Amino acid sequence: MGRITLENVSKIFGSNHAEAVDLISRGKRKAEVAEACGAVVGLCDISFDVREGEILILMGLSGSGKSTLLRCMNRLVEPTVGRILVDDVDVTRLGRKELLAFRQKTFGMVFQHFALLPNRTILSNVGFGLEIKNVPVKQRTDAAMQAIELVGLKGWESKYPHELSGGMQQRAGLARALAADADILLMDEAFSALDPLIRRDMQAELRELQRKLKKTIVFVSHDLDEAVALGGRIVLMKDGEVVQIGQPEEVVARPATEYVRRFVEHIDLAAVMRAEQVADRAAIVLSPTDTVAEARLRTAAGGSDGWLVADQDGRFVGRVRAERLANARVGDTVSGLLDLDPGVVSAGTRLDAVLGQVADGGAVAVVAEDGRLIGPITSRDIVRALAARPNAHHDHSPTQTKPAGAERWTGTSQNSPSTRSATTPSTGSPNMAVG
Ligand SMILES: Nc1ncnc2c1ncn2[C@@H]1O[C@H](COP(=O)(O)OP(=O)(O)OP(=O)(O)O)[C@@H](O)[C@H]1O
Ligand SMILES: [Mg+2]
Repeated sequence: MGRITLENVSKIFGSNHAEAVDLISRGKRKAEVAEACGAVVGLCDISFDVREGEILILMGLSGSGKSTLLRCMNRLVEPTVGRILVDDVDVTRLGRKELLAFRQKTFGMVFQHFALLPNRTILSNVGFGLEIKNVPVKQRTDAAMQAIELVGLKGWESKYPHELSGGMQQRAGLARALAADADILLMDEAFSALDPLIRRDMQAELRELQRKLKKTIVFVSHDLDEAVALGGRIVLMKDGEVVQIGQPEEVVARPATEYVRRFVEHIDLAAVMRAEQVADRAAIVLSPTDTVAEARLRTAAGGSDGWLVADQDGRFVGRVRAERLANARVGDTVSGLLDLDPGVVSAGTRLDAVLGQVADGGAVAVVAEDGRLIGPITSRDIVRALAARPNAHHDHSPTQTKPAGAERWTGTSQNSPSTRSATTPSTGSPNMAVG
């Protein structure tokens, strides 16, 4: 449970709904609609899927429509047109009573200023949602205690909200959403009021919880570093439209528009890029059955202090140092010359984590989950990748500057890279879980 599908969702505020919807269907956008009929376009023809079990981060400048979109998902805000499905349930067709029940069962919500009830204990606050649903005392106390433990508040359950710090109160808010055991969590700037250090902790914890509980989480944030820390796909919004969807490293490598490029230009590339994006896929790779003579021939151009070795199925076997190859007997094979301790990282390792391993000058091998060698990384590869911050529009045709919907942009991850180096797409798992 937990897949959310948005189909051509628009939200109009103010008057002239019908006219505004008609204008949108004819390709007009926020500014044009406002000029033509005075209506405020909150959301403009939005279509995409939230995958079951992912953390999806809605980002964009203030007023871009993040909160409106989040609240449309459980109809706290009523979409003007369009369909919203949760798994096979068409949320937009539910009657009032069904909607309330469905919302309670399926969605947990956490906001920036999470209002705990001041005259109730933490335990009672966390169990509040279950109380409304008439869950028996014993059962709801158990569920609440479990959630309290999950967020690290055990021992504080009988305190009152004013006895807790802001960060702890926010944890209690998260526990309240978790206690109801809903499949989907909607979180709007949930950590924005917290101190930077506590905020980091909460981000790491949410990511950990997500791994354990496998909930679908939609998280609104202004903060790109937060999006990177949470480690999910990013949806970039502007003027009520979705401009781009993708993993942070994809968005950074290939921003769909100038707006996106400017949004991500201060991102710490080393924290978002993955080893597989930087690995040198064109590097010479030796085979364990190569003779020394063959290996010397193949590496005659030199330029490296060693070479990686993979078997005939492409699986990584080890590394041969140039010096060792130079001093070996001609009749030996490469398999007898392997280093005992070659540096290896998995494809999804963050670049900042790779940095430490290449610092001593050698190359590390980047290896896919199935053991296949992707290629080596040297410190030079990393410097090159970090220096190659891309410019917008470099591989978009002029006819594509105005996205009609999200689908077109979700496809960017499948584009071929124009060069090897920083723009190499991630071909591995769509998640960032490896890092
Ligand atoms: N209840 C409302 N009535 C009228 N206009 C609204 C209403 N709610 C939102 N809007 C408009 O819809 C647009 C999107 O607002 P929304 O609150 O979704 O933005 P946001 O991206 O969440 O911004 P922020 O980062 O400041 O929270 C804005 O133009 C806003 O003025
Ligand atoms: Mg908002």
